[in-house]
Amino acid sequence: MNPVAPRRVAFYTSNAGKFEEVRALLRPQGFSLRWARGELLEPQAETLERVVEAKLGQVRPRVGEMALVEDAGLFVPALGGFPGVYSAYVHRTLGTEGLIRLVAGRPRRAEFRAVAGVRFGSRRLLRAGSVEGSLARGPRGDGGFGFDPIFLPLGERRTFAELPLEEKIRRSHRSRAIEGILRALGAEPPPKKA
Ligand code: IMP
Repeated sequence: MNPVAPRRVAFYTSNAGKFEEVRALLRPQGFSLRWARGELLEPQAETLERVVEAKLGQVRPRVGEMALVEDAGLFVPALGGFPGVYSAYVHRTLGTEGLIRLVAGRPRRAEFRAVAGVRFGSRRLLRAGSVEGSLARGPRGDGGFGFDPIFLPLGERRTFAELPLEEKIRRSHRSRAIEGILRALGAEPPPKKA
């Protein structure tokens, strides 16, 4: 029998921007979120799925909580998918302008991808989400975090950092991954009445 997913969620991330986005997504669905900050080592692996699986193996949610982890990155096909799983490191070292310089003279297509994973009882669920777009010529906008100022979602003139936060959240790779988790949880059987 499948256990029913707890409505209390411990989100393991050190990124305040991610926490705000995920809380805004999950609260209307009746979930309460605890920020489990700095409780995980960031594993090094070559795919987002492997990073998420490794994180799920480390988490120690409290009794009655569901653990949520997520890993994301910006993938640029003209750079062989770089920075991908190395996005946090590249953002810290080269920054948004450094990435723009790397892509000069090449096709500017880019994709944000995220994998979200939850664990409760012995159950684990992983779902992926992505959003296609391109790299702007330079950083624009004050919203969001990370590479938001240089990412133009397909068909949009504003970067993610120029969009109102609710709109970025609605269109983001992270929302899509988490919506996949919510759909899978929605397929769980309702709790048996005593
Ligand atoms: P991680 O998922 O915490 O390993 O972070 C990956 C890195 O990718 C972040 O530090 C950001 O630089 C970038 N990134 C991931 N998601 C987003 C996003 O939604 N907007 C902007 N940058 C992001």
